[in-house]
Parts: sequence; structure tokens; C-alpha cells
Amino acid sequence: MAKRIDVKDLNLYYGKFHAVDRVTLSVPPRNVTAFIGPSGCGKSTVLRSLNRMHEVIPGARAEGKVQLDGEDIYASTVDPVSVRRTIGMVFQRPNPFPTMSIRDNVVAGLKLAGVKERKRLDDVAERALRGANLWAEVKDRLNKPGGGLSGGQQQRLCIARAIAVQPDVLLMDEPCSALDPISTLAIEDLITELKKDYTIVIVTHNMQQAARVSDQTGFFNLSGVGQPGRLIELDDTEKIFSNPSEKATEDYISGRFG
Ligand SMILES: Nc1ncnc2c1ncn2[C@@H]1O[C@H](COP(=O)(O)OP(=O)(O)O)[C@@H](O)[C@H]1O
Ligand SMILES: [Mg+2]
Repeated sequence: MAKRIDVKDLNLYYGKFHAVDRVTLSVPPRNVTAFIGPSGCGKSTVLRSLNRMHEVIPGARAEGKVQLDGEDIYASTVDPVSVRRTIGMVFQRPNPFPTMSIRDNVVAGLKLAGVKERKRLDDVAERALRGANLWAEVKDRLNKPGGGLSGGQQQRLCIARAIAVQPDVLLMDEPCSALDPISTLAIEDLITELKKDYTIVIVTHNMQQAARVSDQTGFFNLSGVGQPGRLIELDDTEKIFSNPSEKATEDYISGRFG
């Protein structure tokens, strides 16, 4: 649980298109790292490369190193499916299986892995739903479809599904962008709770959100149209928002962008 991430000279491509240029960064365990920056600068692409979801896109490839506690997740001996179990992901739009029950949504990954014992699945479902701050709201309707929950509840259900398989890292790509302000605050509180057990990397277009939830912030930018995205700087969140080292970061956070 809660492992360190080290990325070195990571280049990401979609076919011939060089989307992200030489990203190097480290994320300590039990830490929230936020990626901010204008749209199209490669934040989601980098996030997906951290659990080998990038290569699922036809023609997409990664060059460079991504290590989890010193182990290269791109080594030829490593099974990408097991990487995605260790490093879970939550997406922009909540994507529960809509007709599947709330309980089965949470334990879907375990069932796929062959776990059948009812008691064990119930225990895991309860633990994950409690961990995602959703238990109190759904404990009396566990057999109702996941699609019947509100957007914010569905996103917490997806977080419960991600933590049910006990990952080391949670990746979140703009997890609140489809949610109302109250649900957004519930997710932000949850992220702060989850940080005790997990290493978290979150992409957000909301700078206030980055400032509220993260320990360190990375600013991504493009040097021009058709150019690859770059990580301009990564530093303590407080420093990025008060006294960044790079002018481009300062322009962006002060809204003087473009
Ligand atoms: N599936 C894809 N196929 C081809 N190009 C893509 C794909 N996804 C993203 N890109 C391109 O890669 C660049 C980075 O995109 P992305 O990582 O989504 O940026 P961000 O998340 O910062 O908005 C953009 O130029 C985008 O058009
Ligand atoms: Mg994105």
C-alpha cells in the first residue's frame, strides 16, 4: 500500500505524434500530486502512462522509465493487467456498470479475479464503500443498480470499485469535472482521507482544487501548436501557488495565460 512513483525521461507518442516530451518526476507515498495546465498539454496522457493505460490506444507508445517502489512497470516480465490492479484509475465521467447492483459494481474486479465466496465479497464491498464515504448512503440498497445513484455517488462508487482491489496508487483524471460543487467537496474530502493509505495523482483543471487537495503540483504546458507537452515545474503546492520558479507557471496561475 502507498508506494512511491518515479518517472524518468518519459516520452509519449500517439503514432508519429510526439504528445509529451521527457517528463521526469517523483511522487512520495501517501502524497497527493496534482497536474494542472491548459488543455491538450498531456496531463491525461502522462496519467494513463503511469498504469500502462496509454498503450491500450492503438499506435500509442511510451519511452522512458516509470518505477513503482523501484520496480520498472514497463519491464517485459511485468503483466500490464496486474499493473492496472496495483495502480487504479478513476475517470472524468463516473462509469459504473449502470444495470449492475451497487454491491456487484464494487466487487466486480474481485469477481473477475475469481473470488466467489459471498461473505468475503460482502466484507470487501462494505470496507470499500466505507473507504469511499458512501456506505451510509447505500447500505440499505446494495442490490439496487449503480446507475440509480446521483453523479457524485456514482463517482464515489467508482472510487470504491478502485480501492476494493487494494491498489497502491490511485490515479484520478478530473474526477469532479462532471459533478456539482457539493459532490465535488465530498470527493475532495475523500481524497484527503484516502491519502492516509494511498499515493494519489490527480489531474484537475480547477486550480483551487489543486491548491486544496494536493501536496505537490506539477504545471504542464505546450511550447507551441503541434509541439509536445512538457512538465514545466513540479514543486510543493504552496510554492507553486505563491512563488513558482517559472514565469509560465506564474502567468498560468495568475490567469495571465495565452
Ligand atoms: N487517443 C488519442 N489519439 C491521438 N492523440 C491524442 C489522443 N489522446 C490525446 N491525444 C493528443 O495528445 C495531446 C495531449 O492530450 P491530453 O493528454 O488529453 O491533454 P490534457 O489531458 O492535458 O488535456 C493532445 O494534442 C491530444 O490531442
Ligand atoms: Mg485531460
